Amino acid sequence: MRFYENLSHIRENRLPARAYYIPETGYILLNGDWQFKYYPADHMEEEAVTTWDTIPVPSCWQMLGYEDPNYTNVNYPYPIDPPYVPDDNPLGMYRRTFEIQDLSLCHYIVFEGVSSNAELYINDAYVGYTQGSHLQAEFDISSFVKQGTNEILVKVRKWCSGSYLEDQDFFRMNGIFRDVYLLSRPKGHIRDLHITTQNNQIKIAMEGSAHICLYDQDALLQECDATNTATFTVDAPILWNAEKPYLYTLVFIYKEETIRRKVGFVSYAINEAGAFCVNGTPVKLKGVNHHDTHPTKGWTMSDSDLRYDLSQMKKLNINCIRTSHYPPTPKFLDMCDEMGFYVLLETDIETHGFVCRTAGYNGYDMVEHPEAWIGNLPEWEEAYMERMVRAYERDKNHPSIFGWSTGNESGHCLHHHKMLQYVKAKDPMRLTHAEDASRASATYPEFYERTDLYSLMYPAPGYLKEYAEDDTKQKPFFLCEYSHAMGNGPGDVMDYWEHIYRYPKLIGGCIWEWADHTVLQDGVPKYGGDFREATHDGNFCMDGLVFHDRSFKAGSKNAKAVYQYMQCRIEGDDLLVTNLYDFTNLNAYHFTYETEIDGKIINKQTVVLEAAPKETVKLSYTKANSCTLGAYINCYLHDADGHEVAFVQIPLKAECAPLALCDSAAAISEQSKEFIIQGDGFGYTFSKIYGTFTSMMKNGEEQLVAMPQLTVMRAPTDNERNIKHHWYKQTGGPAENFDRLFTKIYACACKGNVISVKGSLAGISHLPFFHFETSYTFYADGTVKVSLSGDVRENCIWLPRLGFEFFTPYEKDAFFYYGRGADENYCDMKHHAKVGFFTSTADKEYVPYPMPQEHGNHTDTRQLQIENGLSFLSDTGFEFNVSHYTAKALCHAMHIDELQKENATIIRIDYKNSGIGSNSCGPELDPKYRLDEKRIENFEFYIQ
Ligand code: GAL
Ligand code: MG
Repeated sequence: MRFYENLSHIRENRLPARAYYIPETGYILLNGDWQFKYYPADHMEEEAVTTWDTIPVPSCWQMLGYEDPNYTNVNYPYPIDPPYVPDDNPLGMYRRTFEIQDLSLCHYIVFEGVSSNAELYINDAYVGYTQGSHLQAEFDISSFVKQGTNEILVKVRKWCSGSYLEDQDFFRMNGIFRDVYLLSRPKGHIRDLHITTQNNQIKIAMEGSAHICLYDQDALLQECDATNTATFTVDAPILWNAEKPYLYTLVFIYKEETIRRKVGFVSYAINEAGAFCVNGTPVKLKGVNHHDTHPTKGWTMSDSDLRYDLSQMKKLNINCIRTSHYPPTPKFLDMCDEMGFYVLLETDIETHGFVCRTAGYNGYDMVEHPEAWIGNLPEWEEAYMERMVRAYERDKNHPSIFGWSTGNESGHCLHHHKMLQYVKAKDPMRLTHAEDASRASATYPEFYERTDLYSLMYPAPGYLKEYAEDDTKQKPFFLCEYSHAMGNGPGDVMDYWEHIYRYPKLIGGCIWEWADHTVLQDGVPKYGGDFREATHDGNFCMDGLVFHDRSFKAGSKNAKAVYQYMQCRIEGDDLLVTNLYDFTNLNAYHFTYETEIDGKIINKQTVVLEAAPKETVKLSYTKANSCTLGAYINCYLHDADGHEVAFVQIPLKAECAPLALCDSAAAISEQSKEFIIQGDGFGYTFSKIYGTFTSMMKNGEEQLVAMPQLTVMRAPTDNERNIKHHWYKQTGGPAENFDRLFTKIYACACKGNVISVKGSLAGISHLPFFHFETSYTFYADGTVKVSLSGDVRENCIWLPRLGFEFFTPYEKDAFFYYGRGADENYCDMKHHAKVGFFTSTADKEYVPYPMPQEHGNHTDTRQLQIENGLSFLSDTGFEFNVSHYTAKALCHAMHIDELQKENATIIRIDYKNSGIGSNSCGPELDPKYRLDEKRIENFEFYIQ
């Protein structure tokens, strides 16, 4: 057995965990260039290394070219044979020098993150050992250093016994990936520091003595000399919450050392109704799961990267973070304290791969096979416990942390049970969370009873309601993961929040997950399988609510709209505005509202609304009597910087006049294979064989490059990874083969100015799934009225979409529309988009989902006009899409650089396009968002 496989050697000489702080003096950051030597296996290590490379620290060696990245989700990237790891275990040796001035001080070295372990040498002498990649490790090196130049050597192995506890769903990375620094401190300095607040008191427990000052901003409130404990009483303290993260400052002075820490007055609790409360006020957790991930630096994220994450989250109205599935760098928590987030701190444990320990899937078979889970084996107890202890001890002073989580997807084991007992005893004021405990609440109730939260991942929204209305269920329900944000999506956030806003016991949850994980190569986001990995999980790592560069997609903006703190509705003559903030009066913002009729703003007003948290205020508004396209009232909330924090559009009741169209008929002449329709400025040819146009001339220019077609296919989104096998492919399930579509025309006849077509659509090898009748009515000015009716075969699966595709010249790609924009939107994912007039081009409509897929849809459209091209109009509305990509091209490309444009602008005029949902990991698309009707009756639009 190698020492790093030995479970009784998971640390050596590492100092006991303590609260995080960095003294203001005697701090030397050792980030920067280090010498580095990589061996593919640690048994290849030489007696004396002759050639060293130079690399930056912190970093991940996979991102520097030493190994290929490997993305695996559940499966371990090596056999499950705990505590053993492969014999060829890569080794990275890190070396550099540092200066020590004053030997009368105590000297420490601190690692904030090393994967998977670190063996530390100073001046060739062995100091100690640590594992636990995302946890802080501190060593006392006082007796190893000399005056002047010293050398540090760190040996890092790719794997160790601890790797079994780190089977999180991410690119597996190694190296010194977070800050490493030296602390030189006066003898007798304070060590651990525990700061708590209760009512108006700050209580301090510390190992040591210090002069302590309490500041409110720059004003010194109180000071004292203290040993071990101190208490400060603050009159009417300003409380901390995520909306107004008010912090006081504590300064600890010992000899020449100064330590400055922030403190916030906050309390977390569950009330009688099961609601989560901050300082006694019920608060909904509008959360997201956060991983450390960077497209070129892997797990290494700079302070500004992390701050940017948080500022982007604020823009999306996010107030809660689960640190999935390990503690972040402590500086991230300082930022959460300062910027205002409620944090569920999860420790560094996941053993998900045990569900795959034999061929097939074993599931969480804890009850039948407790011995198969290391969380039940006595020799693993310490390894589990210390990960909880180290997380708690390091992070216990952050006001932002509302709860502790024992990890993720690790079964519901005895050691978790002990971890919960430990953390509850240490910190009764915060909540406990154990995702696996709730998963197994029925089979393992004792364990579940220990947790404060009922926590599930990916239930269907309906289950929330069921739970909320079941009085036997007491605990608050927290969605530790929901609305899987992979690719185009998630589409179902509002469906959860309709329930969450309604029932106190539903306290919110965290969208999975914050950002796409990817390795960027030549500007192309790469994923599992792109690196010759022996086991991988494809693009399942690209499931962020934001892209890898943290830019927003429609799904981000839709989530922002669901999470926003303002609701508006119309009741009779009143516009009602509800303030959903928990601690902020709406008067901190500017409220703007306007009536918009047919795209024209009628009466725009900006006011400051006095509305206390949860209060609803009434306004009168300008009504609309009549319109031709639509009438709405738009409500916006802007912050002092002019940033839009909330937007609501409410349709107004108004008489909507039908389109005024030319009523004189066009003449149709019949030829053997086609009909010719001609008039002033237009000329159409309509094929009797294919039942569609073969030419549409407008102002002397051909508008078509191919025949328009009735189609149902769209390039599968990541959220259709299951259903697509029923739509398109023979493998993985019986499919309708919508991708290999045949159109059959049974009859095509002309009567007066109307051409009627009878036909069907069928996938290859199958019965037709759609029998339709389309009529085309021709008017003297060139207007064509299209009307589609039909029947979908009874046992046919629901359709991706249904509509006409027009293939028009490539250059005719600029357009404007009256419909829902400017961002893409779908029937379930449209809370971020408003109905109005917008301009765009086919290229602007392209959304670079790392795995190319369906995108660019617009719902609720009444008019689409291609510049110098065709126009599409409707009284009842349609959905549309304008693109240079065919569904097939999007379907076949696996990366953005493989996408081939069509030499055409493809216009889709759809009866309906099914919703998005989040079925890439979440529930099936809600039936109400599926195009599932069996009868389509008079889908009508006009072409001009
Ligand atoms: C969950 C897991 C996450 C992630 C997600 C899928 O089961 O907790 O870590 O793997 O699924 O993206
Ligand atoms: Mg997992």
